[in-house]
Amino acid sequence: GLILLRVPDGPVVALSMVCTHWGCDVDWDTKQACVDCPCHGSRFDTTGKVLEGPADEPLPVYPVTETADGIIVQFKPVA
Ligand code: FES
Repeated sequence: GLILLRVPDGPVVALSMVCTHWGCDVDWDTKQACVDCPCHGSRFDTTGKVLEGPADEPLPVYPVTETADGIIVQFKPVA
């Protein structure tokens, strides 16, 4: 799965939902404004960077193109 985020005053970001630790589905944490993994507590920022382990690899990021008709996500990770 994917998490689509609109960064305030910024672009739409598409992140993989698969935690890079053991593969649980991560979720958006509105209160902390970051991505959380419910399994072992890893946290990631809106660019996929690890804020807190045990994960030590960033979440893959997918390129997003915004058009007048909507959003196109390319399913080829750039990072
Ligand atoms: Fe996400 Fe372990 S699977 S922190």
